[in-house]
Amino acid sequence: MVSNRSVLFVLAGFLTQAIAIPRKVVLTNDDGWAVAQIRAEFVALREAGFDVVLSSPAENESGTGSSTAAATRLNITCEFDTCPIGATAEGFEPFDRNVDAVRFGIQTRAPELLGSKPDFVISGSNIGNNLGPVVLISGTVGAATEAALEGIPSIAFSGGSGAQISFETLSNASLPSTQSAEIYTSLVVSFTEVLLDNPPPILNPGISLNVNFASISSTCNSPQEFSFVLTRINPDPSVTDVSVCGTDHLPAEADAILEGCIATVSVFNASTKADVDAAQQEAVLKKLTHILTCLPSS
Ligand SMILES: *[C@@H]1O[C@H](CO)[C@@H](O)[C@H](O)[C@H]1NC(C)=O
Ligand SMILES: *[C@@H]1O[C@H](CO)[C@@H](O)[C@H](O)[C@H]1NC(C)=O
Ligand SMILES: *[C@@H]1O[C@H](CO)[C@@H](O)[C@H](O)[C@H]1NC(C)=O
Ligand SMILES: *[C@@H]1O[C@H](CO)[C@@H](O)[C@H](O)[C@H]1NC(C)=O
Repeated sequence: MVSNRSVLFVLAGFLTQAIAIPRKVVLTNDDGWAVAQIRAEFVALREAGFDVVLSSPAENESGTGSSTAAATRLNITCEFDTCPIGATAEGFEPFDRNVDAVRFGIQTRAPELLGSKPDFVISGSNIGNNLGPVVLISGTVGAATEAALEGIPSIAFSGGSGAQISFETLSNASLPSTQSAEIYTSLVVSFTEVLLDNPPPILNPGISLNVNFASISSTCNSPQEFSFVLTRINPDPSVTDVSVCGTDHLPAEADAILEGCIATVSVFNASTKADVDAAQQEAVLKKLTHILTCLPSS
């Protein structure tokens, strides 16, 4: 039971510089507010010119899907002892679960801190991939679907490498978890920039993207090694997908990610967490043509 053991934390960062693309972002996860991966992204998104509100559970809520929990008073010291017991100061809110966190970020904190609801929600990158049927229980995907159902375009990111360890470990550049956090962070920022650098809408209503990065290895050891590939969450030979890479049957994300330094991109229905039809896939494909490539096997 975790329902009385979590609290929502919020960090905010702003830059005054104007950039052409939508720039108000709520950043969320289910691994907790203090893990290295989410903090690396918070810093990098700010440096890239985004106004970011980080709104995450105060403890590990992995695997809680789209569940929510009743608000309870904080009585924990949070992940890695990052908050005082009983804290009720500004920034500490008695909410639980990743979905509660992203909802609070969208509805309350972004309007307070950024002047409006966010343009966009980034969920993850999760520590550990969320592929195929696992999306149904993924808190990372759950938070992205919550955003999409509230009308805020979103992406769920997950990576095969990393560790649920404190952001303080980021100061050690030789830790494998620091290296994966930096590589995945770079991929999150560049993918987001490519998607946002399109005429509106950022994504059609009611859909979201599930993006998974292959594990870091001796060959997949820099962002430049990675290729983004359009995939589907669940294989279904009876369905005709958008035509790309010489086929109208997209590879399943769980298979595609095994083919090398691959980042899979699947388009899904935020209500059902199932794959969308070919027309919806095509709308996303058109926005991502600059970075999508074909699998080595195709
Ligand atoms: C976080 O929660 C998940 C699901 O309960 C668990 O598998 C994982 O080991 C937890 N992580 C840590 C660092 O405790
Ligand atoms: C807070 O948690 C501790 C143990 O973790 C417990 O002894 C105490 O009763 C709790 N306080 C409240 C107000 O729930
Ligand atoms: C950094 O991490 C490496 C690899 O785990 C370890 O050998 C080293 O002792 C760490 N350095 C510090 C300063 O903690
Ligand atoms: C999502 O699925 C629901 C239920 O099947 C359907 O009514 C809706 O049109 C779908 N939305 C999109 C964007 O495909």
